[in-house]
Amino acid sequence: MRKVLITGAARGIGYQLCKTALSDGAHVYGSVRMQDDADRLQREFGDDFTPLLFDIRDRENAAEKLIQIGELDTLINNAGIIGPDDSDTATATLETFSDVFEINTFAPLQMAQLVLPKLKASDHPAILSISSQMSWMGYAKSDHISYRASKVALNKIMQGLATDLAQHEIPVCVVDPGWVRTDMGGEDADNDPTDVAKGIWKIARDLTMSKSGKFIRWTGEERDY
Ligand SMILES: NC(=O)c1ccc[n+]([C@@H]2O[C@H](COP(=O)([O-])OP(=O)(O)OC[C@H]3O[C@@H](n4cnc5c(N)ncnc54)[C@H](OP(=O)(O)O)[C@@H]3O)[C@@H](O)[C@H]2O)c1
Repeated sequence: MRKVLITGAARGIGYQLCKTALSDGAHVYGSVRMQDDADRLQREFGDDFTPLLFDIRDRENAAEKLIQIGELDTLINNAGIIGPDDSDTATATLETFSDVFEINTFAPLQMAQLVLPKLKASDHPAILSISSQMSWMGYAKSDHISYRASKVALNKIMQGLATDLAQHEIPVCVVDPGWVRTDMGGEDADNDPTDVAKGIWKIARDLTMSKSGKFIRWTGEERDY
């Protein structure tokens, strides 16, 4: 049975990813921040789901919760925040950048560091991080600059991690989920989170070293950074 850790399981893409992975027979460890969410998901998903209560910024607490789980095959770094609407370059502050970078950029690397010993012991390990089309350097747009920059940096870090983990045959990739109807994406977004989760899960399940270091659309094609 494939064992998967999905961060940000309580809602949005993360919630749908949990549902999809469970329906494909995986055991899912889902990170949540509220006990109420842990209880709700446990009731809904049953014994193949284990909620883990931690904030992805909190290395010590995350490490403590992860020690309690045994084997792990797949890490899906999904949790993220959009940050302030008005974070353009004229108004952005170090404080708003710090929040977004801590959650969107550094925490996914920290999660990978924490689970690495488990992934090294897996027969089919994989690390996926959910990035964004807003990271694409072909866009000159400046709205949500802290978010855009955090995902550019995430891409670079995950590309570097892919290089470093190649010797252990652990594939690492970043995924562009498109624009998705969640609390973050809003109701006008193009894509249904259920469809997107199915696409992302397929990429995670089938990820091999040939795709390591790539930026992949939720539909499966490789795309430009
Ligand atoms: N929606 C889109 O159109 C879109 C487009 C491109 C990329 N993405 C990316 O896709 C991922 C999921 O987005 P979404 O649309 O599903 O967002 P969402 O509906 O806003 O959900 C975000 C999830 O991240 C969790 N989270 C936020 N900060 C956290 C922290 N410090 N520790 C632990 N969990 C934390 C939230 O937990 P709580 O429930 O506890 O707040 C929630 O479960 C994000 O990385 C986002 O950047 C989304």
